[in-house]
Amino acid sequence: MTKDVNKINFYDDNNHDYRDFWVGRDYEHEAELIAFRKLLKGRHYKIAMDYGGGYGRLTPTLLEYADKVILVDPSKKQLAFAKEKLAGLNVEFVQQQKKDNVPAEDNSLDFLAMIRVSHHLPDPNPVFSEIARTLKPGAEAVIEIASEAHFVNRLRYLKQLKAVPSAPVPVGVHANGAEDDTPFVNHNPKTIQAQLKDQGLSVLDKLSVSNLRHRVLKEHLPMPALLGFEKAAQRPLAHANFGPSIFFLVKKG
Ligand SMILES: C[S@@+](CC[C@H](N)C(=O)[O-])C[C@H]1O[C@@H](n2cnc3c(N)ncnc32)[C@H](O)[C@@H]1O
Repeated sequence: MTKDVNKINFYDDNNHDYRDFWVGRDYEHEAELIAFRKLLKGRHYKIAMDYGGGYGRLTPTLLEYADKVILVDPSKKQLAFAKEKLAGLNVEFVQQQKKDNVPAEDNSLDFLAMIRVSHHLPDPNPVFSEIARTLKPGAEAVIEIASEAHFVNRLRYLKQLKAVPSAPVPVGVHANGAEDDTPFVNHNPKTIQAQLKDQGLSVLDKLSVSNLRHRVLKEHLPMPALLGFEKAAQRPLAHANFGPSIFFLVKKG
């Protein structure tokens, strides 16, 4: 069967429920909320977009910093879950129809969040260009990337006397739990930073997130200790791109 290169509704495809992915991942979820609050502290936006927002896991937190959120996702199934979860909140739901498209007018958004989506983008450049097109001048975005350059991986590469590749690296897992054709890649934070700059998105801040994402640590350390360390470490460890997830706060212009 030939692969449909324009397909984006991978999360409609199977019997797996993406919400189940988060069972047992309280540490990672809380670590992302900590990152959001660190980056957005003291800020408030009129119109924010949760791009690839899925079932709206992070939308309520975004609403702490915005009057209204537009939740965009290509998956009908995720949008249906989101509508249920976010009923009564000031959220507009939009189904993305085209690959690499941010469904909004030029210069119309005050803020955009793109969390856990870049790992489905083997070439994120066209989406970065769309983000730059749709943000107002001076508007901001938080863009998360799954990093190939995290500390444990760097040791692995070092053992093989190899450098961390600058290009995206396909990883052998399936985000939505299915053996399907969902693209799944890790990125090199240095490459991403250069790509953002090329699109006129300057990096204002950067955090290293889920720094203790390791089975043994999660099993043995109590949650308050994990989160206490996470809170203290996200900014200092960002310089070294330590963690598996990097959050960039960027500004258009
Ligand atoms: C791992 S989930 C993350 C959802 C949400 N941002 C969160 O952090 O909980 C990835 C989401 O990206 C959407 N997605 C997949 N490929 C996409 C693409 N090419 N463009 C935009 N969204 C995509 C999926 O439908 C899914 O809801």
